[in-house]
Amino acid sequence: MTILLLGGTGKTATRIAASLSAAGKPFLLASRRGPDAVVNGYPAVKFDWTVESTWAAPFEHGPVEAIYMMEPQSDQPWIPMIKFIDLARKKGVNRFVLCAGTTAAVGKDGMGRVWEHFIKTNVNFCVLRPSWFMENLIEPGLVYTISKLDKIFTATQNGQIPFVSADDIADVAYHALTDGKTYNCDFRVLGPQVLTYDKIAETLSEVLGRKIEHVKLDEAGRIEGLVQAGVSDYYARFITRIEALAAQDFEKATGDAVEKVTGHPPKSFKVFAEENKAVWASS
Ligand SMILES: NC(=O)c1ccc[n+]([C@@H]2O[C@H](COP(=O)([O-])OP(=O)(O)OC[C@H]3O[C@@H](n4cnc5c(N)ncnc54)[C@H](OP(=O)(O)O)[C@@H]3O)[C@@H](O)[C@H]2O)c1
Repeated sequence: MTILLLGGTGKTATRIAASLSAAGKPFLLASRRGPDAVVNGYPAVKFDWTVESTWAAPFEHGPVEAIYMMEPQSDQPWIPMIKFIDLARKKGVNRFVLCAGTTAAVGKDGMGRVWEHFIKTNVNFCVLRPSWFMENLIEPGLVYTISKLDKIFTATQNGQIPFVSADDIADVAYHALTDGKTYNCDFRVLGPQVLTYDKIAETLSEVLGRKIEHVKLDEAGRIEGLVQAGVSDYYARFITRIEALAAQDFEKATGDAVEKVTGHPPKSFKVFAEENKAVWASS
């Protein structure tokens, strides 16, 4: 029986795939780019949430026992997701792991609607609600501003965020997909410390041996800067909105889900920074 990993070229699914591969458990990665974009020759299939005719393809590779999923960036994403879950149930799938976010709440528009559907249909499920990924700092935008300008621009002010590594999120997901018991609950997946971006900049300065500055922008300035950097107006406003929420400590939380589920503590930002310091080399 195979574990289907949607978002198959993304940060979390690729890490879950590595763990499944190491454990000798069959899996199949699925995303719009499919086999063209997967690493390590992992098995993959093309799948697009917006093209319903692609949804049956994963099941043509053999029986699927569990599915890892996340939302597509589209309007009312829960509508195709619920429809797909019902198709998967008809194909015999009875375990779903959903990677959502801090704002998800049962029944609330967004991933809360999918979560509610798990409960209503009585399937085994686990909803992961990670805080912000440490790996955002190794995405091209932040790599550019850190390596070229020695700066991080945000509208988070002194907001505290329990940054978590995608390694830990993937490890929690791995357990939720494969453990003998099922969880049927949500987990706040959080890093070991709540950190301001000032603290992130201070740690990067220590690790990189040069001063990295956190530049605190107001909301209008943040939107303008993102748009000037080539980000769409819509996405610039989205990022700024969540940063402004974080400025009010919306993300601030502590919890032990990583250690409880995986048996090991979550990675610290210092360790993450050491592991990735070559990415931010001055250029
Ligand atoms: N970054 C953060 O700080 C943060 C914090 C909390 C929660 N989250 C949430 O965590 C989840 C985990 O994402 P991740 O980081 O593992 O993913 P990711 O790295 O953002 O990658 C997204 C994946 O989805 C696929 N995809 C995009 N549109 C698709 C479509 N229409 N149909 C099928 N596949 C599609 C992409 O592959 P193709 O391009 O090949 O389709 C890719 O594999 C996301 O839902 C994110 O919103 C993120």
